[in-house]
Amino acid sequence: MLAPALALEEYALLEDAGCETRIAAAKAKLGERCVILGHHYQRDEVFRHADLTGDSLKLSREAAQSSAQFIIFCGVHFMAEVADILSRPEQIAILPDLAAGCSMADMANLPAVERGWRELSQVLDAEASITPVTYINSAADLKAFCGRHGGIVCTSSNAQKILEWSFAQREKVLFFPDQHLGRNTGYRMGIPLEEMVTWDFSQPLGGLTEAQIRKARIILWKGFCSVHQMFKPEHIDRFLEKYPETRVIAHPECSFEVCQKAPYIGSTESILKIIRAAEPGTRWLVGTELNLVNRLANEMKPRGVDVHFMSPTVCMCSTMFRTDPQHLCWILENLVEGHVVNRIQVREEDARPARLALERMLAIA
Ligand code: 13P
Ligand code: SF4
Repeated sequence: MLAPALALEEYALLEDAGCETRIAAAKAKLGERCVILGHHYQRDEVFRHADLTGDSLKLSREAAQSSAQFIIFCGVHFMAEVADILSRPEQIAILPDLAAGCSMADMANLPAVERGWRELSQVLDAEASITPVTYINSAADLKAFCGRHGGIVCTSSNAQKILEWSFAQREKVLFFPDQHLGRNTGYRMGIPLEEMVTWDFSQPLGGLTEAQIRKARIILWKGFCSVHQMFKPEHIDRFLEKYPETRVIAHPECSFEVCQKAPYIGSTESILKIIRAAEPGTRWLVGTELNLVNRLANEMKPRGVDVHFMSPTVCMCSTMFRTDPQHLCWILENLVEGHVVNRIQVREEDARPARLALERMLAIA
């Protein structure tokens, strides 16, 4: 008979160094049955155990292609949901800490999006004229909404291609939950700001007039990432005053004003790619999460590339930070003992249409 599952409380006080050896030992026992996926925002003590690292797009592809029985996602909740949706039924997606959510993803929920869709349908024929696009940072039922309504999922690295596809389907886009990714991408595609309206989900008709809705090409849900809102245009100005030769690079979740001052804009994976290819002697100011920037700065220092964090204050993604070596150790040792803890399983009625929206994305990007 199987011994009871190991309790998380017994792990809480373990030293990081102790976890390190135990994680390595459990991983060795599990071998190819388990794969650990690590998002770039994970802290070093967790990141170093990842078999595969990447941004949301790369990791969702890895999840779809993995043959491991257990997919342990060191990231946030929506990422483990994507792993579950895209993997085979016998594979198991696991999130080491169930409290690792995404505050931006939480800014849109199905009842609010459905209410918005109904209200938009009072102004125009929503089904015929709007493609719903959800950022991958969203719950599975919102991806399912997009799947059901001819829509699609995007990530920060493929948003432009996805918007192009969406406009080829219908004349307008409803983009949720991140207004900034939608606005920054739309603007780079040549859509003027006045044709991108912000849908305030706390107000009737999103706080817009019927005329504004009819004129809009993109309707932007009023969500945002609090981590990326910490970066301000004046941070860039101050840094450039001191080091005018600096190259500025920002994640597209940053505000429009910050992205306007950044000649380089990219997802976490493209920020890494661009800076890793930089010439020695160059200096970079980076607007994205601190764990990634610190790791990159250390990696690039010996190569003579200077990497700086854009904000003068520390800002990390607190939910990404929740995944610690203690939780990872707990998950792995339970698997060794034959117990699956913290499984993420999306209901089949959501998984089916959500998969459709994700597969549309994967086929394009
Ligand atoms: P990436 O797609 O660049 O990994 O971004 C995910 C995310 O949550 C950024 O805040
Ligand atoms: Fe969500 Fe922002 Fe954290 Fe990314 S950095 S997971 S968008 S809260």
